[in-house]
Amino acid sequence: MRANLLILAGTTEATAFANAAAKAGLAGMVSFAGRVERPKRQPLPQRIGGFGGVDGLVAHMRDEQITHLIDATHPFAAQMSRNAVAACAEARVPLIALTRKPWAAQAGDRWTHVPDIAEAVAALDQPAVRIMLAVGRMHLAEFAPNPQHFYLLRLVDPPKDLPPFPDHHVLVSRGPFTETDDLALMHEHRIDLVVSKNAGGSGAYAKIAAARALGLPVIMIDRPAVPDRQEAHSVAQVMDWLRHSGVDLGV
Ligand SMILES: NC(=O)c1ccc[n+]([C@@H]2O[C@H](COP(=O)([O-])OP(=O)(O)OC[C@H]3O[C@@H](n4cnc5c(N)ncnc54)[C@H](OP(=O)(O)O)[C@@H]3O)[C@@H](O)[C@H]2O)c1
Repeated sequence: MRANLLILAGTTEATAFANAAAKAGLAGMVSFAGRVERPKRQPLPQRIGGFGGVDGLVAHMRDEQITHLIDATHPFAAQMSRNAVAACAEARVPLIALTRKPWAAQAGDRWTHVPDIAEAVAALDQPAVRIMLAVGRMHLAEFAPNPQHFYLLRLVDPPKDLPPFPDHHVLVSRGPFTETDDLALMHEHRIDLVVSKNAGGSGAYAKIAAARALGLPVIMIDRPAVPDRQEAHSVAQVMDWLRHSGVDLGV
């Protein structure tokens, strides 16, 4: 069977899978939401922008004759993942999610789990401290209720609007980051507390390891729920899934 893949991207895993798919001679398209100014160059054709909800995604997959959907979005891109489950059920397109396992606390970690960004904001209703806030630029406005803190912001692109808290420092960097660098960064900015999404994977873990080394507390935002779906944790597992579904991958 000749495959025509739709790869929902925006992560290092999506790029790694697109590379493997291109190397195996598979056809497909890599899709970005358009949140970052310069998405990573892909080895397959790419498209940018939303599909228009579940109906839009169903129509897109029908128009483009998509044979398989690989959801390699970030674990916090829950709306896209929910839409993918619903659209694939409707269009009868096989779906697999290429996901990272969530981080688990280890000895020495001082995590407070919160279920979502709103609860992370509520947990910061306390006297001023110095915070490394690693939640992405889309969510900065939600932290407006606690302008008493210093916020160190590390973002892929500069924020379009000034953050709604006066005391902040913006670092523009795409990562991946190292524990040594993040230790130095936390020292330099005299960080007291880290706020992080439980993204999983290695690229964003440096700040978690650095917080542990410094004995700093972490407010860990747990992952949003997505409906049950088939999941893989490596590019090789997705390739196996394709092979088992009858896609010709050569040797
Ligand atoms: N959330 C994070 O922390 C985070 C971190 C790193 C990277 N990212 C990446 O940034 C992108 C957006 O994340 P988000 O949290 O804003 O998503 P989201 O809230 O789940 O998605 C909102 C809407 O954006 C569109 N969209 C999302 N991902 C898309 C994709 N890969 N291709 C085409 N349209 C997409 C869809 O619009 P329609 O309904 O119109 O189709 C979706 O309904 C994703 O590609 C994700 O992998 C997110």
